[in-house]
Amino acid sequence: MTYDFRIAAADTPTMYRDLESALQGLVAGETDAVANMANAAALIWETLPDVNWVGFYRNVGGELVLGPFQGRPACIRIKFGEGVCGVAAETRQVQRIEDVHAFPGHIACDSASNSEIVVPLIRDGELLGVLVIDSPKTARFSEEDEAGCLRLGAILSRIL
Ligand code: SME
Repeated sequence: MTYDFRIAAADTPTMYRDLESALQGLVAGETDAVANMANAAALIWETLPDVNWVGFYRNVGGELVLGPFQGRPACIRIKFGEGVCGVAAETRQVQRIEDVHAFPGHIACDSASNSEIVVPLIRDGELLGVLVIDSPKTARFSEEDEAGCLRLGAILSRIL
């Protein structure tokens, strides 16, 4: 069985709509969280232009621990409140950062990253973890990207 979810280049909202249906298809009927995070990271990595890291940190006992990802090896543990990921986890608010070097406490896992978006994944009031996407381009993520990533996050929160 092959999974060919290659998504044609299109305007940003269309691309996220296609990404959403591909993600739904990819995780349908699978309950293993690691498998779903791994495939989601690969799908987003393949689809979004100008990204250098896509992946997950999981909430393990009140600390963020590295999960499945695509990109360079990254820091393993992040405390709530620390870095962009920790702030997203603590505030439960999406963090869309145009210039990570201007973000106090930013954790530089890959020196190529210049902008970043982090989406908290919440189900039934519980923070499951965060979805993280980094880009080498400053201000890579628009409001349309944020809306799209929030919808991907909503799908992921249901199946992790
Ligand atoms: N830059 C993040 C760390 C994780 S990575 O980008 C993979 C942060 O400041 O929390």
